[in-house]
Amino acid sequence: MITMMSVETPAKVILFGEHAVVYGEPAIAMAIDLTMRMTAVRAKKYTVDGYTMTDKHHIFIKRSIEKFWNRGPLQIYTETNVPSSSGMGSSAVVTICTIGIINAFQGTFEKEKIAREGFEIEYDVMGMASPCDTSVCTHGNGIMISKRKEKNHLWSIEKNDKTWHIHHVDVPDLPFVVGYTGIKGSTKKMISKVARYVKKSRFAMDEIREIGEIVLMAKDSLHENDLEKLGKLMIRNNQILVNLGVSHPLLDKLVSAVSRSCYGAKISGAGGGGCMIALCKNVEKVVERIEKAGGIPFSVNVHREGIRRVF
Ligand code: MEV
Repeated sequence: MITMMSVETPAKVILFGEHAVVYGEPAIAMAIDLTMRMTAVRAKKYTVDGYTMTDKHHIFIKRSIEKFWNRGPLQIYTETNVPSSSGMGSSAVVTICTIGIINAFQGTFEKEKIAREGFEIEYDVMGMASPCDTSVCTHGNGIMISKRKEKNHLWSIEKNDKTWHIHHVDVPDLPFVVGYTGIKGSTKKMISKVARYVKKSRFAMDEIREIGEIVLMAKDSLHENDLEKLGKLMIRNNQILVNLGVSHPLLDKLVSAVSRSCYGAKISGAGGGGCMIALCKNVEKVVERIEKAGGIPFSVNVHREGIRRVF
């Protein structure tokens, strides 16, 4: 019997389309080189990093185990440089690591199955979610989520009346810098806030649809490596996210602090704190400006591989 398993999963940034993707609109996301390594050892009692596993502290791990594992307790250890609730997908990372370990113990390691099961957990815990974060952290590189199946299709995921078609995108190495506010954003709260707005206002739904149109233009610009155009689309996407109420004063401050040194910048992820992302003309200047404005900069690269077994 195998008694120990270890996997590594990358974090993500959403380049375009967060929130709108929950409503079935397209999105583009990229895996980044911040990662979590999770190791599990068969044991007498469930623990995470030495503590008893609880709903309060380990909800994504616990739900994954309750739903997909019945072969006895595990001692789980995590090592990560992904800040939690930062907009960089920490909950997807921990979920995908757990699901990856469970699958590996069960003798399978198929990315599609891991992404599907990971999404089920995120959806259960959040009450509403898209498969964007869980799919990109599993697949690595970049993904495009579309309303229709296209070239480079990876898998499709359905929930209630929605279908998300997930595609592989070869993201070029672009000079992205992430600015973390240091303020923990609650994805669940931000998704509910947008849902309340969408329910009571036609304007909010129109804004969601416009994000979808921006994503389609961004897909072409990414393909053509047109940084000027990508930057403009990021600025427009950011304005809509601000209109939807998911910004935060420090996010606004970071976005405007970097504006002269980048092609474009925007909130990335759920917002309400968390992080922004800038497509830089001058990486050093952007890093310096983020720090000066009170944020924590991360110069990030594409993580090509996605989830992998370590041993
Ligand atoms: C969070 O990283 C992205 C959101 O679009 C939520 C989701 O897609 O599940 C805000």
